[in-house]
Amino acid sequence: MVIIPREETRLAQTEPAPDQRLYIHNLVKRDPLANLADDVRKGLAAQPKRFLPKYFYDELGSQLFEAICLLPEYYLTRAENEIFQRYAGEIVAAVDDRITLVEMGSGSASKTRLIIEAILQRQSQLVFMPVDISRTAIESSSRILLQSYPKLTIDAYAADYFTGLAELGKKPRKRTLALFLGSNISNFDIGEALRFLRALRSVLNKGDALLLGADLKKDPAILEAAYNDALGVTSAFNLNVLARINRELGGTFDLHKFKHVAFYNESMGRIEIYIESLFTQTVRIEKLDLEVEFAAGELIHTENSYKYDLAGIARLAEETGFACSRTWLDSQERFSSNLLLAS
Ligand code: AVJ
Repeated sequence: MVIIPREETRLAQTEPAPDQRLYIHNLVKRDPLANLADDVRKGLAAQPKRFLPKYFYDELGSQLFEAICLLPEYYLTRAENEIFQRYAGEIVAAVDDRITLVEMGSGSASKTRLIIEAILQRQSQLVFMPVDISRTAIESSSRILLQSYPKLTIDAYAADYFTGLAELGKKPRKRTLALFLGSNISNFDIGEALRFLRALRSVLNKGDALLLGADLKKDPAILEAAYNDALGVTSAFNLNVLARINRELGGTFDLHKFKHVAFYNESMGRIEIYIESLFTQTVRIEKLDLEVEFAAGELIHTENSYKYDLAGIARLAEETGFACSRTWLDSQERFSSNLLLAS
């Protein structure tokens, strides 16, 4: 008698279960709260006052960013998705050879699926190595990916970019395609972008590739709308930094007394984001044993988002040991996906 196994039984026999295809290296060294406390103390002593963009992304802030990506004004995510829907096959085919996929700052990894699917059309197995500062984001996105793709193995690094890269450098890889998507490069000023790309280049071999997503310079009205949405989600995302300081450091910020501000600085080619104090006020932060004065109209800088043009991307590539081999744009030419080859 011939017994034909049901689909899931057959899968279970041929492919290891999702748990057996996942390894997470936890390299987040320091106590994240200690970092927040130090950086908040420093940022509030600075002139002008500032916070670092990485502190947007606690549990609530990460969810608010996911919501930003759904806003009609925030075209970036949809534009990059459109590019991958159309060109993922072409992008992957531009890297010859069997691929190991690396992603820096993978987050929820939703766009990554289109790239993974395109690779799995060309090769039977794939190793995916995501690097992300959030261990919980890596865990949840990895489980979902492994459920969907039985031929996928994940070797994940919960780490900041530079620690993650140092670890990746020690691992044997096939021809590597590294992803840095969503215009994540936009938080870096030019010096930081050069440093990051050089560090990434140093773990790649000649012929490996980086797919770099970069938002493009355009009509300031379109850019400013993307960071001043009518629903106020970006405002909530920005002010959440104050709410986070209240929650984690015993701060007494009254969020009604502060306002989200974002505008395009054309000469610097960047969106600048601030929190404005609406009144003269004093705020106490219990765990820092600190009292901070704010003047009416005073701005706290929270983020820069640099915008690129194609010449700028090519220059960045050339200065860091890459050559920009191809660029794909969305139909409205708002966003670019650039394949940089390690030269
Ligand atoms: C995640 C850095 C790409 O700059 O567009 C979105 C962050 N800030 N809205 C961007 C962000 C406010 C975003 N990046």
